[in-house]
Amino acid sequence: MTTAVKIRDLSYAYPDGTAALAGVNLTVEAGASFGLVGANGAGKSTLLLHLNGLLCGNGTVEIFGEAVTKATAKKIRRRVALLFQDPDDMLFMPRLEDDVAFGPRNLGLAEEEVAARVRDALAATGLEGLERRSPHHLSLGERRRASIAAALALKPDVLALDEPTANLDGRGRRELGELLTSLSGTKIIAGHDLAFVGRLCAEVAVLAAGKVVALGPADKILGDEEILREYGLA
Ligand SMILES: Nc1ncnc2c1ncn2[C@@H]1O[C@H](COP(=O)(O)OP(=O)(O)O)[C@@H](O)[C@H]1O
Ligand SMILES: [Mg+2]
Repeated sequence: MTTAVKIRDLSYAYPDGTAALAGVNLTVEAGASFGLVGANGAGKSTLLLHLNGLLCGNGTVEIFGEAVTKATAKKIRRRVALLFQDPDDMLFMPRLEDDVAFGPRNLGLAEEEVAARVRDALAATGLEGLERRSPHHLSLGERRRASIAAALALKPDVLALDEPTANLDGRGRRELGELLTSLSGTKIIAGHDLAFVGRLCAEVAVLAAGKVVALGPADKILGDEEILREYGLA
């Protein structure tokens, strides 16, 4: 099996001294859908920010065997797409198609290739027909899918999503779940929507106070009332 993400003894404190990660060890195999659950403040977002070098703590993070450092971050970001919790942090162009084209254009790809990637990404996310719409005139569910389209246009090997179901209604959650299920590649889904994580992920880690406190098959971990209560998830 190929290992997509290998995290060893990762610790991180924010500049104000807040210890957000305290010795995290995690392995995610290539092609897996991995859930990262934990109460607010557990360190989920901080951990995701280490996957593509937006933060660099003590310890090591490897993506397909390559260490994430300040020097490799740019290259790593082509392989790891990180989707922030708020899609509006990732959509800033006047038209949807320009947002999706932004990444590939930045890679210096030929316009033909950019157009093909935009088309494929919008088709994969069910957004065809909305190319010229302003992202601000899309529903939250559509904007979330638009941010995934922008990520897919980069053809990443790892898709890391931070609280992807936040504020979505039932239909938005279902559509997002179907979309993510249809995507191949390695997925890491962080959040506290346990039903969603349980549906999509085979393996789950519970994070609490910056540590992995439980790790195992999703049905076992998410079915363990004691764990869920102890770590603020139920
Ligand atoms: N920019 C920041 N500066 C200082 N502390 C932060 C910052 N962002 C998050 N934290 C703190 O780091 C810890 C982990 O936060 P976070 O990774 O956002 O957790 P989660 O995503 O699981 O809710 C919390 O104690 C939080 O208050
Ligand atoms: Mg968070």
